[in-house]
Amino acid sequence: MAVREVLKMGDPRLLEPARPVGDFASPELARLIVDMHDTMRALNGAGLAAPQIGVGLQVVVFEVDANPRYPDAETVPYTVLVNPVLTPLSETMEEAWEGCLSVPGMRGLVPRYAALRYQGFDAGGQPVDRSVSGFHARVVQHEVDHLHGILYPMRIRDLRWFGFTDTLFPGQTLQDD
Ligand code: NI
Repeated sequence: MAVREVLKMGDPRLLEPARPVGDFASPELARLIVDMHDTMRALNGAGLAAPQIGVGLQVVVFEVDANPRYPDAETVPYTVLVNPVLTPLSETMEEAWEGCLSVPGMRGLVPRYAALRYQGFDAGGQPVDRSVSGFHARVVQHEVDHLHGILYPMRIRDLRWFGFTDTLFPGQTLQDD
């Protein structure tokens, strides 16, 4: 297990499409997932995608813990999602603030589908199939965007709503994706 360096916006590897995982039994995949988990936890992230640590495979992890400061915020169980496919459940979009471990210290207002179904596989190759909404749906869309070489600033509609976290939200501790 190891905490890996997270690539920052500007690194061309963050712009490349990731390849699907073909071999679920490989020790390299198991090691990658452990490293992603450890890196996300160490940096207090809500999610991480493999390209963020320089691995061009379709693997994301995410997890949102209960935060006593935001008792209404939805929690999301630790999830490993390999070769994900997203299907929006309606055309409804919602805007909310996002951050990213690859864009440290920044926040932007990003439109996302309000509800979607996500399908893929867990670390052992077992199918995952969930229909979710709200923040859970947002985190999944953010992470899966990384697999297509898309960083959240590319999705901001009005760049007036993009800025430094400590200026936008003084005194708050916020998670990054
Ligand atoms: Ni991110």
